[in-house]
Amino acid sequence: MNITIRPLVENDLSEANRIFRLSFGTFLGISDPMTFGGDTDYVKSRFYSDPFAAFAAEVDGKLVGSNFTANWGSVGFFGPLTVHPNYWSQGVARRLMEPTMQLFSRWNTKLAGLFTFANSPKHVALYQKFGFWPRFLTAIMSKELTQPRKDEPSKLKWSRYSEEVSERTHKDEKHLLKECSKLTNSVYEGLSLESEIRSVKKQNLGDTILLWRQNGSNNDEDSPLTGVAVCHCGANSEAGSNTCYIKFGAVKSGPDRGKDFENLLRGCETFAAEHGLTHITAGVNTARHQAYTKMLSNSFHTDMLGIAMQRGNDEGYNRHNVHIIDDWR
Ligand SMILES: CC(C)(COP(=O)(O)OP(=O)(O)OC[C@H]1O[C@@H](n2cnc3c(N)ncnc32)[C@H](O)[C@@H]1OP(=O)(O)O)[C@@H](O)C(=O)NCCC(=O)NCCS
Repeated sequence: MNITIRPLVENDLSEANRIFRLSFGTFLGISDPMTFGGDTDYVKSRFYSDPFAAFAAEVDGKLVGSNFTANWGSVGFFGPLTVHPNYWSQGVARRLMEPTMQLFSRWNTKLAGLFTFANSPKHVALYQKFGFWPRFLTAIMSKELTQPRKDEPSKLKWSRYSEEVSERTHKDEKHLLKECSKLTNSVYEGLSLESEIRSVKKQNLGDTILLWRQNGSNNDEDSPLTGVAVCHCGANSEAGSNTCYIKFGAVKSGPDRGKDFENLLRGCETFAAEHGLTHITAGVNTARHQAYTKMLSNSFHTDMLGIAMQRGNDEGYNRHNVHIIDDWR
């Protein structure tokens, strides 16, 4: 079989989206595989986030699979990687992994990883061939927002990135992005969500929640930003109808991180409720024990478990006291 790997282009998106649903739906045994993912969107949003990090596999001029790579500074992950079921087990995914691995080299990615099905020997073996090793489970969790939270507004100071930047100059937006990167860098060196924050804004996928210290300091060295959460909202985003998906969340490292983390969750819930969304989803690696248990104690329950595989078996930021929300799906 003659497999060609090339950049994914705009014209491929509808077929790539079809293959994405068909392949996952088939793998999971859904009676109508095309219903997989409902009205969420991964293919388009990932492509427009960085078209140069999306790859296509072709056989005889026909699109048969795709893969997407995300650059979070020193951290990188890939997916969804999907291959049309008619072409499974013929080396297409292995070929799609090649440019992905090259991108990690070009980006100087320190922590490279992925999320996959823990119960699939095929998936785990495929990624092991590229130096990724299974580590801890990642819990995909959710919560119904049946009752509005009874927070006194004065006790929680958060804002929306979109509002902040609408009142700022281009230069100030750059400064704000730098503040976000400074915060994530305090948790894991080089971790930067700038591309994700920009993509959510550019594609109108949701918003980024910014958590601020309540007693502001005038010390420039000590930024008042204590938390950041990139949220997708509703249909045609990674959240789906009626849902707010916390794609990434982090609080500044330090002694207050536990409390800040709970406040970040509150900020996201309030934001979701204000958008009329009644469901919130978020993933956390169970190696981040403190974050995982905080989510459980904040009434999140686990809908699905997958496994994080990490290049070189590197623990990265999947450590017991790291307060980060993400699932690398
Ligand atoms: C997972 C998926 C992308 C794999 O694509 P693929 O083109 O079939 O995979 P490949 O043929 O390139 O590679 C599979 C490898 O796993 C190996 N493998 C399969 N079953 C195995 C097992 N039980 N134990 C060990 N190795 C196994 C194969 O031998 C092959 O390696 P080889 O080519 O060196 O022999 C595809 O099945 C798919 O689209 N699934 C649905 C969507 C999905 O799950 N995506 C991935 C989410 S993380």
